[in-house]
Formats: sequence, structure tokens, C-alpha cells
Amino acid sequence: MAAKVGVVRETRESETRVAVTPDAVKKLIPLGFAVAVQSGAGLGASYPDADYLAAGASLALDAAAAMADADVVLAVRALSTEALTGLKSGAIVAAMLNAYAERPALDALAQTGATGFAMEFVPRITRAQSMDVLSSQANLAGYRAVIEAAEAYGRAMPMMMTAAGTVAAAKVFVMGAGVAGLQAIATARRLGAVVTATDVRPASKEQVESLGAKFVAVEDEEFKQAETAAGYAKPMSAEYQAKQAALVTEHLKKQDIVITTALIPGRPAPKLISAEQVTSMRAGSVVVDLAVEQGGNCALARPGETVVTEGGVKIVGIVNLPGRIATDASALYARNLVNFLTLLVKDGQLAPDFDDEIVKGALVTRSGLVVHPALQAAAS
Ligand code: NAI
Repeated sequence: MAAKVGVVRETRESETRVAVTPDAVKKLIPLGFAVAVQSGAGLGASYPDADYLAAGASLALDAAAAMADADVVLAVRALSTEALTGLKSGAIVAAMLNAYAERPALDALAQTGATGFAMEFVPRITRAQSMDVLSSQANLAGYRAVIEAAEAYGRAMPMMMTAAGTVAAAKVFVMGAGVAGLQAIATARRLGAVVTATDVRPASKEQVESLGAKFVAVEDEEFKQAETAAGYAKPMSAEYQAKQAALVTEHLKKQDIVITTALIPGRPAPKLISAEQVTSMRAGSVVVDLAVEQGGNCALARPGETVVTEGGVKIVGIVNLPGRIATDASALYARNLVNFLTLLVKDGQLAPDFDDEIVKGALVTRSGLVVHPALQAAAS
């Protein structure tokens, strides 16, 4: 009998994405899976039930039915405690578990005996690029952040010369030039803005410049060492942060739109814009803080809110930006999941090789325990 994949409707308020699209169903069936999708699971991302049926899935009336006997449950976020009760013992669960920040949900998953994979833990090695959910979602978030900024900004992005006068191009400053930041730079450039960017990783300078933006950073000895072997940022010293803050303070005064995307894996987001720095910005300026769910890069950012200061600066703290571009975000995430599942299947049977670097890297719970070394360290 074919192994069964269950797909549930996401229950969190701002979660519009779905883990499996009709296109992904068409890829799962040849792998040897039968797919059951909870009715309405794709609606938030504009994938109607009929399209799932046409792709070869069966429809389940509720989450319990979608998960009943499922060998694999695919989700966007961690399953709710209620949903976990319907999980078959020993089932595989793959989702963006946000494993560091949502520890209680992780422990609850472990207790069911599930083999849990945190998709955000998939190692960022070349072989796993097609499974890299951090990149697929951050890229869209970076794009969407610029669209949201343009919406909140009461002026135009490109320079326009008209008979009634000239409209100046917006000055956009992107803080953190990783996957999201680079896409934000590219998007703002396409809209005609004058773009600058900063990052603490020296490798980012060339990438920023290759997109036609100007790089703004204190490039001292510490900066030259500020990248881990895995390509991530390191926390910077207080001295460096002070020097960088002084440079950024002057730069911020002249910016119209600031997009912040700076993150350090497993830690709260670095604070890059203080309340005082916001005060120095012009009325009508916009800050979009992509790191708001990890504590925010801007001191005034609030999750789910747009804060307008007395000085007329808007600080946009949208949670789940990929959810605002849910059709594409779901399509890319679903492809990441299908590529990951392909690794777990051998000759049409589920047979995860727990020694495989990717499988091992993403595995967070097994046989009742939280098994990922980084999470065991975090708990103690
Ligand atoms: P991220 O989401 O962890 O962080 C976003 C950006 O914030 C990073 O560029 C980081 O350097 C920057 N940042 C951290 N602290 C900062 C501070 N105090 N000031 C300014 N910027 C700060 O990183 P993301 O976007 O997930 O990836 C970062 C890098 O990882 C990529 O640019 C790339 O080099 C590497 N990567 C490698 C992949 C692979 O398959 N080999 C795939 C994706 C990313």
C-alpha cells in the first residue's frame, strides 16, 4: 500500500500559505505517495479543493481525517497541540518548526514519538539548495518588503520628470544583505530607487555592488573576520557596533525607506536602529522591519503593527511577509518539501537514511526525544 501524506489547513491567524500545492501533489504521487488534503487547506494561497482533486489527491473533511493513518504530515508551521493528538505513532512531520523560538511546540511534537524535521534546519550545502526554505521564503519576503514600503510611502520610487515638475527618486537603505536583503535591493532598483545597503559580512559587499547599490559599512579588521565558516554573520563587538552606529546615524537622516533584514541564527535580531535614530529621520520616511518576529532590528518595531512616530516616521512590522505573497511562497515551499521527501524515499518506500547529512541536519525529534544537538544544547 502506498505511504500516505497528510496535508492540513494551517491554523495560525496570519498563515495563508499551504505546505503542498496541486502541482506538488502531482510530484508526490509518482514518488509512491497517496496524498490527503484537508478541505480548504489551499484557499489562503488561492489553490481550490478542485485543483487538488484534479491533481490526484483525496480531500479530507477535517485535520483529523487528513492526518489519520498519515505516514508523513507536511505543514507550514508547527502543528497545534490539538492536531498532534491525531498523529499516527512514528509518523514523519516536516514543517518550518521555528524550533529555537517555539520550544514548547517542539517538545509536544517529540512526545508524540514523531520523526520531526525542521525545514529551517536543512543544511545550506549545495546539494540541499532545492530544499532551502530559508532562501525560498526570504527571497519573496525581501521582494514583498519593498512593495509594502512603497505602499506605506507617500511619494514615488522612481525619479519622474513631468511638465508639472520633477519627482525625486526615493532613497532606499537595506540593512542586512543576505537572501532577503539582496532581493529587496534588486526590487527597489527595479522600481527606480537609489539604493544603499549594509551588512557585517565582507562577502556581501561585492553582491550589493553587483546589484547596482552602494555599500555602506565600517570596513575595519573585525569586519574582515565577521563571517562564520557557514557563511553567517557573527555577533559584533560593542566597539564595532558603536562605530557602525555612528556611520548609520548620518546615513539614516537622508533616507526615505529603510528595509531591515539582519539576523543571526539562533539569537535575537541585532538592534540596528534606535528610537533616537528614528527621530532623526524625515517625516514620511518608512522603516520595514523584516526581523520583527525575532525581536526586530528597529527598537520601535512592533509585530503586526505599523507604528507612526510623532515625527511622522512609519515603522512597519508585518509578521509573515511570505504569507502576503502566499501563492508563490506556497509553490516554492512545496517544491522544497517535495525535494526533501525525495531524499526519504527508496524504491517507492519511506526509508530515511539518518546518516545522510541533510536528513541528519534537519532531524529534530525522534522516538520521543528532541535529538538535534543544537536544540539539546539550547534546552540545557
Ligand atoms: P540571515 O537571514 O541569517 O541574515 C540576514 C543578513 O543579516 C545576513 O546577510 C547577515 O550577515 C546580516 N546581518 C547580521 N547581523 C548584522 C548586523 N549587525 N548589521 C548588518 N547586517 C547584519 O542570512 P541569510 O540571508 O539566510 O543568508 C546569509 C548568507 O548565507 C547568504 O548571503 C549566503 O552567503 C549564505 N547562504 C548560503 C546558501 C548556500 O546554499 N550555500 C544558501 C543561502 C544563503
